[in-house]
Amino acid sequence: MLKHGVHRILEAKRPSEAFEIIAQEKVDLLIVDMMMPEMSGTDFCRRLKSGRRTQFIPILMLTSISGVESEVAGISSGADEFLVKPVQPQVVRTRVRAMLRNKALIDSLEEAETILFALAQSVEQRDKHTGQHCQRLAAYSMALGRMMGLPAADIRSLHRGGYLHDIGKISIPDAILFKPGTLTDDEWELMRQHTLAGERICMPMKSLAGVLPIIRNHHERWDGSGYPDGLRGEDIPLLARILQIADIYDALVSTRPYKRGFSHDEAVGVMRDEAKRGWRDRRLVNMFAEISGAMLEQTAAEISTPLDLASMGIELAKDTACASPVLLQHLSLQSSEIATAGA
Ligand SMILES: [Fe+2]
Repeated sequence: MLKHGVHRILEAKRPSEAFEIIAQEKVDLLIVDMMMPEMSGTDFCRRLKSGRRTQFIPILMLTSISGVESEVAGISSGADEFLVKPVQPQVVRTRVRAMLRNKALIDSLEEAETILFALAQSVEQRDKHTGQHCQRLAAYSMALGRMMGLPAADIRSLHRGGYLHDIGKISIPDAILFKPGTLTDDEWELMRQHTLAGERICMPMKSLAGVLPIIRNHHERWDGSGYPDGLRGEDIPLLARILQIADIYDALVSTRPYKRGFSHDEAVGVMRDEAKRGWRDRRLVNMFAEISGAMLEQTAAEISTPLDLASMGIELAKDTACASPVLLQHLSLQSSEIATAGA
């Protein structure tokens, strides 16, 4: 049914062979039978969908067992589509085309995110004093978010926010960004724009919607004297407040040309003092203080490179899964064909 098309087809007789192929090749679609040697199609799907590298590969499951139950089992295990044999060639081809089209969209979205994170990294690297600042910020924010029992989606936003919050600084000239003396009013006004510029850069990416409040509001202050919106207290988005706590902590414990790095306990002491004066969110400072320095270091170590998109936990795929023997790999040439067919 598919061999005359534009696909490169890789076949496996059993799941173990399929896993070997998937480990070596970039596969765009999996067609799998529900009944297979070694393991069931549903177990195969679950394993694939739980793997970081393989979770976004769409899976078409075939079975000779008709009925609602097997379809539910297939889809629940992670299959994206389900067809009962005997299958109609036209239906299979149409499904395959549609699934490859979605996969191409996911790939392009991943590329777009990769570019944004690369951009954010280059912004960070302009400042030679900050080192792995974004990575630490992401780690500290996530640790506090977890301490507060926030949902996984918020933890992901905190992770990304750590890297992306200052992406708007791309629009600020070095002469202002690294000016040794005090900024003039005009320069300061431009500097403040990095929050809004960052929001504009990331706004087109739907998958970054949860990060936008962090980017826009990470310079608000508890007493309302921050920017760009002058928000006060709990009006400041929670994730932005969490990032701020992480940011202050990192600034305190880091060694800079003009200051020594504080110990964990010293830094927490300073933050508590500032909370008492009404400058910081006292509740968040107290929660952060309960996280040990060792745990913060461990969280920072757990975070891999920012460009590892799988580790950013991109939620692009549906909840799905699936099974055996025919693996499709569409060649770059095919993308345009698929796109045309879709149009
Ligand atoms: Fe900033």
